[in-house]
Amino acid sequence: MSTDGKMWGGRFAGGLDPRFAAFQDSTEHDLVLAFADLDTNLAWSEALCSAGVVTEDELERIAAAIGELAAEWHENGIPDSEAEDVHGLIEQQLVARLGDLGKRIHTGRSRNDQVATDLRLHLRECAGLLVESIEGLCLSLVEKAAAHAADPMPGYTHLQRAQPITIGHHALAYVEMLARDRERLLDATARMDQCPLGSGALAGTAFAIDRDALAARLAFHGGATRNSLDATASRDHLCELLFASAMAMTHLSRLCEDYVFFASHEAAFLSFGDAVATGSSLMPQKRNPDAMELVRGKAAQVQGALQSLLALLKGLPLGYNRDLQHDKELVLPALEATHECLLVAATAVDHAHFDTARCRAEAGKGYLNATDLADLLVAAGVPFRDAHEVVGRAVNRAVELGVELHELPEDEQRTLLPQLDGELAQRLAVDAVLQRRDVLGGTAPERVAAEVKRWRILLAEWAEGYHELDDLDPDVDVPALEEEHG
Ligand code: ARG
Repeated sequence: MSTDGKMWGGRFAGGLDPRFAAFQDSTEHDLVLAFADLDTNLAWSEALCSAGVVTEDELERIAAAIGELAAEWHENGIPDSEAEDVHGLIEQQLVARLGDLGKRIHTGRSRNDQVATDLRLHLRECAGLLVESIEGLCLSLVEKAAAHAADPMPGYTHLQRAQPITIGHHALAYVEMLARDRERLLDATARMDQCPLGSGALAGTAFAIDRDALAARLAFHGGATRNSLDATASRDHLCELLFASAMAMTHLSRLCEDYVFFASHEAAFLSFGDAVATGSSLMPQKRNPDAMELVRGKAAQVQGALQSLLALLKGLPLGYNRDLQHDKELVLPALEATHECLLVAATAVDHAHFDTARCRAEAGKGYLNATDLADLLVAAGVPFRDAHEVVGRAVNRAVELGVELHELPEDEQRTLLPQLDGELAQRLAVDAVLQRRDVLGGTAPERVAAEVKRWRILLAEWAEGYHELDDLDPDVDVPALEEEHG
């Protein structure tokens, strides 16, 4: 390290142009990796000790200095520095405490394998938080479904009233989507669970490092990465996490859109409690669903980050290129935004109060039982295509008369639907229509209640599964991996 604290001073006599110095400084975006970087510094020093590069005594001094730094930063935060990135900052601090010994820690290592490792350590924590917050939102939605398993509301296709569904069925549709997002995150987390440290700048380290042991030490369950060029230059795991996040945000955004519509005067299916509704500075009567709109809007940022990262990677030659430094400013805020939105969405769902009487009344209006009338004709022996035609005419007549299908006067029924023998009101009532969808995946109240039960069991299992994520904590002992070709 040169006297001015640079990590690469030897060939350079002149200083950096101040504008460029500020431009290339990444501490604003990578300081968040500081604790991960302390972990990798300690693990690397231990590996250097095993390789005979530093002695046991020296390792003890290094470990003590790293411990001190961690404690100080936990207590007081991380001080400003002139370093160009978090790795430089930590090296400066260790050199300040350890003198020449501090300068030996970077032996056989590059910031390229270091940042790749730090990022994976940090990202698995971020992914863990996302999984946890998805589970939280699922819990809110499952409870909403439990409360409204038998409460009807209009269901839509093309935003036109289609058939009645239960409010619970609507809530559980989002649970299904979010459960897939959760799985995608876990899947991506498992795929990035390999340790790049020891890959050097691009070609591997020249020191006798036991990389499998190093991977186990840092709690990477998939062992060490198998190609140093790939390990230092690839960022597809970031893309995967961003995709899973962007997909979750897209699901959230649709939920928000539904609830914004449900809260409109036109639908009036639900209202938001004071905790998540906002007013207008001008119009005193307003109660706006801003929580939903802000979450819906944030989806744009996360989708944009995914697109930007893909564009950043495309066309980069192997191996590491400095362009990759921009990965953090794309991925980290996007994951944070997703986490925040999941938490806010859960709160908003908790404070969304359905007007069940209105939802029920509206589910009975707009000919949502027309399909069921056709089905009744089918049961009476009419081929479906003909029944469809007959009911279409009956709907036209009902529209003319300004009534619902089940309100058609008896003489009209006899003329339009001669195959049926009355009792339309009862057979086309909204509860009867719901009840008829008693099929796996259907909206019948019993089916929804059964799904609620299933989800409650799954949610409890997920909650227990957290301990698996805790295993990813580097301080937890992980058994050394078996030699694959032994
Ligand atoms: N700050 C860089 C990054 O985040 C790591 C440093 C790599 N620098 C280098 N000259 N190879 O990607």
